[in-house]
Amino acid sequence: MKYVFKVVLIALFFLSISCTDNKSQNQKYSIGFSQAMTTDNWRKQMNRSMQVEASMHPEIELEISDAGNNVEKQIEQIEKFIEAGVDILIVSPIQSVPITPVIDKAMVAGIPTIIIDRKIEGSNYTAYLGADNFEIGSNAARYILSGEESGAEIFELTGAEGSSPAHERSKGFRDIINATKDFKITHRIKGDWEKSSITSALAALFEDEVIPDFIFAHNDRMALGAWEVARDYSLEDQIKIIGVDGLFGPSGGIQLVKEGILDATILYPTGGAEAIKLAQQILDGDSVGKNNILRTVVIDSVNVGIMQNQFDKINQQQNDIARQQYTIKEQIATYNSQNNLVKIMMGLAAILFFLMLWSIYLLYKNKKSKKRLELNNQKIIVQRNQIEDFAQKLKESNESKINFFTALSHEFKTPLTLITSSIENIAKNSSGSLKAFDYETKLIINNSKRLLRLINELLDFRKLEGDSFRLKPVRTNLHDFIESIYSDFKSEALRKSITLELTSNVKDPVAYIDRDMMDKVFFNLLSNAFRFTPKNGNISIKLSETEKLFEITIKDSGLGIPKEEYHRIFDPFTQATNNGKVSSGLGLYITKQFVELHKGQISVTSRQGAEFKVSLQKGKDHLTDYEVSEKELSLKTGQGDSILNEEIENLEFPIPVEDENKECLLIIEDNSDLSQLLYKKFHPFFRVYLSDGTDGIEKALEIIPDVIICDLNLPEKSGFEICHELKNDLRTSHIPTLILTALSDEESRLKALKAGADMYITKPFNFEVLEQSIISVLYNREKLRYYYTNKIDEVKDEEFNTSEQNFLKDLNSLIEKNIAQPNFSVEDLAQQLHISRVQLYRKVKAILGISISEYINSQKLAKAKNLLQDSSLNISEIAYQLGYSSPGYFSTSFKNKYGVSPKQYRS
Ligand code: FRU
Repeated sequence: MKYVFKVVLIALFFLSISCTDNKSQNQKYSIGFSQAMTTDNWRKQMNRSMQVEASMHPEIELEISDAGNNVEKQIEQIEKFIEAGVDILIVSPIQSVPITPVIDKAMVAGIPTIIIDRKIEGSNYTAYLGADNFEIGSNAARYILSGEESGAEIFELTGAEGSSPAHERSKGFRDIINATKDFKITHRIKGDWEKSSITSALAALFEDEVIPDFIFAHNDRMALGAWEVARDYSLEDQIKIIGVDGLFGPSGGIQLVKEGILDATILYPTGGAEAIKLAQQILDGDSVGKNNILRTVVIDSVNVGIMQNQFDKINQQQNDIARQQYTIKEQIATYNSQNNLVKIMMGLAAILFFLMLWSIYLLYKNKKSKKRLELNNQKIIVQRNQIEDFAQKLKESNESKINFFTALSHEFKTPLTLITSSIENIAKNSSGSLKAFDYETKLIINNSKRLLRLINELLDFRKLEGDSFRLKPVRTNLHDFIESIYSDFKSEALRKSITLELTSNVKDPVAYIDRDMMDKVFFNLLSNAFRFTPKNGNISIKLSETEKLFEITIKDSGLGIPKEEYHRIFDPFTQATNNGKVSSGLGLYITKQFVELHKGQISVTSRQGAEFKVSLQKGKDHLTDYEVSEKELSLKTGQGDSILNEEIENLEFPIPVEDENKECLLIIEDNSDLSQLLYKKFHPFFRVYLSDGTDGIEKALEIIPDVIICDLNLPEKSGFEICHELKNDLRTSHIPTLILTALSDEESRLKALKAGADMYITKPFNFEVLEQSIISVLYNREKLRYYYTNKIDEVKDEEFNTSEQNFLKDLNSLIEKNIAQPNFSVEDLAQQLHISRVQLYRKVKAILGISISEYINSQKLAKAKNLLQDSSLNISEIAYQLGYSSPGYFSTSFKNKYGVSPKQYRS
């Protein structure tokens, strides 16, 4: 598809190029013409002939601007042409002087400039085009002279002052007239090329009866004006009037001569067509003359007919040309659009052709891939059948395995029941008081009960999987039912200092429930709450109702459950990730299934702690599938009908008086049964301290024990973290740490060793192995201690770069530095090492086996030995230098340590 799109795009691209290329082939030239004004026909004629000529050159674009006889405007318009960068500039100046600078500017800008009709100052232009105005003036004079022998009086009506034709026509005229005796220019009226400029002055002269024989007007418009004034004074037959321009058309000079209004007119050609021809020559690079003078002729009654005929023809030709040009233009436009259409069609045909090829190719490809697919399909079908077979076999084998484990679980139940009932019998045979049990017996009870519960969970799970649970709903007072379970947990709450409360605002909470199932539901929710609620926490049970439901909310103040885990907490084999407790992960799954069997709902939220809400429907309409019992039997929960549930967790030991000389063992373990068992086992040999994991580090720092046993799965910090922190703290880094854990994988073992653990023992463990491990880490510590006390100065850095060695080096250098100060105390030393006095004492004792003060003294005496041997200081001086308060005390200490007095030693 992508390819098709690309090809279509390419085709369209070429198409668009071919549509536009006839345009780009022809180069266009721009000609800017600044016309002085267009109020009169002479100028209009000039423009028209320019346009007609330009239309014959399709490459020329002619733009005409009209200055409206305003010099500033003309300058501005010329500047615009310069800015636009026209290829040729044509200017018909209004006046010579003011226009000259802007023409200079165009020339500097490199624009070839043609001056037409009126001139500018100087000769900084490319070419001038126009008739010779001197010749026009002299032609007019000669015409007068030729018609009159006796002389005559003449009025001259001049064109606008400052324009070159007015000046030159006057000069040419006067030069001839003034050379005669009898011909005189008696009056000159200054006009501005328009008839209104001369009428009043002329009328005034006529009024004064100053009448000439001839009037020479610089153009036909003023000449017509003069005739009209003469007519007003009935002088029109008396005065001969000569004009200039000889324009063709109504009120043009030719027409006026023909009508006898003018005697003659001197042809002054506009030069419009010639200007364009000249421009074309310049554009073609041909050389052109500087002054291009147009021919002029006198038109009078003799030749006016011929002239008119000629002009008529010319005019007709011009009109024909214009018409033809228009038709040609139209045809070109039609040709272009048809040409484009053909190209588009060709492009489309090309696309069509390509698409045809493409679809043939696709058809072929499709056929091929269909074949391949069919083959693949066949293979897949074979594979699927194999997988189905395999899955069936796997299912069967799985089924048989699960059945085996279910059967095994059932098998476990019997011996466990036997164990628990035997214990019950023992209880009954003894005085009846549970206190009479020894610790191990209570452990058996506790753990048999736990195993039984786990096995029951497994069996319930299997039953739920097999859909073989049937509800036996019994009419039950929900409050009393929950209260009986609540009572079972009261002693546990007391033991863990947890506030447990049950509240209800329901009057008559009668519900239909399967008591066995609901008992498991609430028992499970409450035991979870107890597992995760720390000492001094709260657990609340609240019974409330809505119109259709009873709602039981169990809320604890434990760690809670992360929000993202709400949805999967009820899935089988799942547990929240934020607690280190290990469980089967079946409890909440079974709980949910049991609630749903009742057509109820269970949900969890967690703000501070976890909050489980069980909603059960009121009445019994939702239980039509089951046989409902209305007999409200007395309440006795499933979990509470054995002595195994009575204060079973309350395993207390008499705390014996500790022997200060025994080594100190800290056990960090959250399973209270196990920690109590370890306590009991190790108590005869060690001073044993227990932590449930929530305060492991604090206890270690407080006690500075000789050895630590630490679990890995702990409620707040993991054993890895605790071990890592202790091993990185100067105060506790020396303490041998044994990890005792159910995690038997290599990864955890490596992680623990990396965290600094000295040993890694997995559960279930052999007690003797554990005992021996403790003995051996302590023995190793002893060996190290011997090494430190005897060879500390000989130990090379690379050899033993432990934190202990670094600690001893710091200690030694501090003692050395302060050895002479009698007041330097153990407190000062501890402060400089940033640990407490007790921690220093315990650390030194643990590493070196002697007290810190003994160690300081031994360092001093070793130094004394050196001084006695190698220096000339006397004994008192040595005593004071070593910070002894008196030489006598020094001598006694020395003798106690080495058996000889300092004096004897020196000699
Ligand atoms: C037209 C015109 C003509 C005259 C010429 C002189 O505007 O007045 O009548 O011959 O200009 O430049």
